[in-house]
Amino acid sequence: MRTHHCNELRESHIGETVTLIGWVNSARDHGGVIFIDLRDREGLTQCVFRPEEDAAIAELSHTLREEDVVRVTGKVTKRLEGAQNNKMGTGTIELVASVLEIVNKADVLPFQLDKEISNEDIRMKYRYLDLRRPRMSKNIRQRSKITSAARRFLDESGFFEIETPILSNPTPEGARDFLVPSRLNPGKFYALPQAPQQYKQLMMVAGLEKYFQIARCFRDEDLRADRQPEFTQIDIEASFVGQEDIIKLVQGLLGAMFKSGLDIDLPAEFPRMTYSDAMDIYGSDKPDTRFEMKITDLADVFGATEFKIFRSILDSGGVVRAINAKGFAGITTGQMNRLNEIAVQAGLPVKNLAFIKLEEGEYKSPLWKIFTDEEKAAVTAKMNLAEGDVVFFAAGSRESVSTILGRVRSECAVMQELLKDSTAFNFLWVVDFPLLAQDEESGHWVAVHHPFTRPHPEDMELLEKGDFAKVRAVAYDVVLNGYELGGGSIRIHEKDLQAKMFEVLGVTPEEQQIKFAHILDAFRFGAPPHGGLALGLDRIAMLVAGEDSIREVIAFPKNNKGADLMAQSPCEIGMKELREVYVQSTYKKKEEPKEPK
Ligand code: AMO
Repeated sequence: MRTHHCNELRESHIGETVTLIGWVNSARDHGGVIFIDLRDREGLTQCVFRPEEDAAIAELSHTLREEDVVRVTGKVTKRLEGAQNNKMGTGTIELVASVLEIVNKADVLPFQLDKEISNEDIRMKYRYLDLRRPRMSKNIRQRSKITSAARRFLDESGFFEIETPILSNPTPEGARDFLVPSRLNPGKFYALPQAPQQYKQLMMVAGLEKYFQIARCFRDEDLRADRQPEFTQIDIEASFVGQEDIIKLVQGLLGAMFKSGLDIDLPAEFPRMTYSDAMDIYGSDKPDTRFEMKITDLADVFGATEFKIFRSILDSGGVVRAINAKGFAGITTGQMNRLNEIAVQAGLPVKNLAFIKLEEGEYKSPLWKIFTDEEKAAVTAKMNLAEGDVVFFAAGSRESVSTILGRVRSECAVMQELLKDSTAFNFLWVVDFPLLAQDEESGHWVAVHHPFTRPHPEDMELLEKGDFAKVRAVAYDVVLNGYELGGGSIRIHEKDLQAKMFEVLGVTPEEQQIKFAHILDAFRFGAPPHGGLALGLDRIAMLVAGEDSIREVIAFPKNNKGADLMAQSPCEIGMKELREVYVQSTYKKKEEPKEPK
């Protein structure tokens, strides 16, 4: 239908007769002559309809409206000096039209494509229009490029691309499953995979050695800006490898993706930090290392304190720690209230964070008068407290203090706009995760990653002894600017160790047979040592695009309630369809409030 796309014509084409097709991006009337910018996914070309060229098409051009689909044939002509637009690739030429075909008229749009729209519901309802906007089109293009780069890199590294079932069984990745009733197996359900974890391990038992998949995963969990109920992983597994092999592979893979998406070279090796250090220093297992504001331990400052609260916490094995938000002494009351709220949500047992501000040479703090002169001097030195700073304190268990100060640290960075102009990509490996965590409510031990993760070889004895809290896993996460991009581990490949792990997790031998017989069985027949990792493709695409929600890089995402406002899913299903799959709904619709008589 066309000879060129809309970002192709240059001065070298002047004099040629060409045909373009696309959308009317904008139409302008200059003294009776209509100019349009014609748009396709590649860009814009200015077309002009001059009555002296063809009176009929000039007349017709007056009917053009934004987003009409039109086909224009004409001669490529140099634009007059002064009328050139160096922001457009095609800005020095224009198409003087001799043929205009209105292919399809467009109604008035529900929103203007060239304006930012704050109402996300409208964008989602008309997502196909939203995707026409250059920013979205760029995001989708970039995502496609980095996905192709990942495929190429893994193919060249000897990985087979293999699909795994979507209709499968529950997978223990920590979220709820989406269930699908089976018509052919009354009373039975499939679960959509939270990850292809077990299949990929079985592929290693099958001798395929190197697998990857751009895999759709489904998790019924609370949604956030970086979480969707269905999302995409670059899922990887390899045999005869250790942690170093996977780390090296993934560094190369991310390097190839960022090169293709942004044309930047990542460092060949990313820094590493243990989970324990990440929690102590940044209060997060996915720290944003683009800014400092490190958590500092004040045990030596307050070792001899008589301040009761600190004293009793330190005596009972707790910690006193603080962060210095440099230059934030001007914090507003509203911001302070917000920080207190965040700290309370993170587990602060009192209403307000303890702080010291140093403003115009004066220490403003509820604590200052309580501290001794030595403590004041030591805090000032240790926290590097200078004019204009504010130091926030937390005291309690090591874990809760990390969580509280970690959240406060992140929020201060937002409030202080520390990252506003940052173009840095701070990659980080977080290694030596704990294998197990104790569920606060039930007291049960749960897997920090998943039950197939290998205990650290140095900690096998601790596992045997039942000292579960101290057992580390051979598990690693790759983090970028405060986001967990991916996680993986070396796996258990021995039947007995796997059964032991299930036992620790409270999965009875009967349950093991029902849920995991295939894995335990497979491990009887010569399972190779293996390990892998999965990267969140949506999160990578988001960071490459400079967006702050993965919805901006997914063509048809769900909103925060898991709904697709365009396709109107999820939707109600009729009784007949439900009966066919042996399902009865217990959901009762809320009665509409009756009009008062
Ligand atoms: P994990 O559960 O850590 O590991 O997931 C891997 C990566 O997938 C991304 N991710 C998500 N992205 C968007 N929306 C979500 N709801 C969501 N949940 C996870 C994250 C995360 O780092 N089977 C293991 C991997 C392995 O051990 O090999 C797994 O799924 O970027």
